Amino acid sequence: MLRAKYLTKITDINKMYIEKLVKKGDIVVDATMGNGYDTLYLAKIIGEEGFLYSFDIQKEALISTKEKLEKENLLSRTKLILDGHENIDRYIDKQIDFMIFNLGYLPKGDHNIITKPHTTIEAIKKGMNLLKPNGIISIAIYSGHEGGAYEKNELYKFLTKVNQEQFNVLSSSFINQINNPPDLILIEKKG
Ligand SMILES: C[S@@+](CC[C@H](N)C(=O)[O-])C[C@H]1O[C@@H](n2cnc3c(N)ncnc32)[C@H](O)[C@@H]1O
Repeated sequence: MLRAKYLTKITDINKMYIEKLVKKGDIVVDATMGNGYDTLYLAKIIGEEGFLYSFDIQKEALISTKEKLEKENLLSRTKLILDGHENIDRYIDKQIDFMIFNLGYLPKGDHNIITKPHTTIEAIKKGMNLLKPNGIISIAIYSGHEGGAYEKNELYKFLTKVNQEQFNVLSSSFINQINNPPDLILIEKKG
């Protein structure tokens, strides 16, 4: 089978952006901690001077993420929060450089616990308010699971109406692939 080298998965493509956009000392938010892979990846990039807030509603997400961070001695530059990302304003009152959402369900977890459009959109709106000028929100949208297509649809309804004077919104999707490949959305707050 032939293999792509660059346009492989949305998560890898997202990393190409993250490497360019996220810097040492940045304040970043992982809105969907899950098993902590994105949290760990970002905690490394922001360095000692940076800080990362990470949210999930499932205790098991916090447990496995804490374990990963402890192993690499990165826990002190993070705050793991057992609460919905829609409540972000209860925990963060400073401006942020970057926020990431990886929507859907926790891999190897309960597939019935999924992100929901209403709370996802509320968190995105609050994140957009907290962003520094030229800060970025990145959103990987999965539509293959039950409820996923609905969430994607609701998100596009909201995102296509975002004021272009204040934000640029970019959508990337594999338009020649079967089986509902995920989309990647990037939002930049204009400076
Ligand atoms: C696809 S997983 C995230 C994967 C994660 N980024 C990683 O690196 O492993 C989606 C996560 O969102 C969480 N979630 C669902 N609703 C949420 C909410 N309202 N606030 C925060 N997290 C939520 C789920 O519990 C699940 O762990």
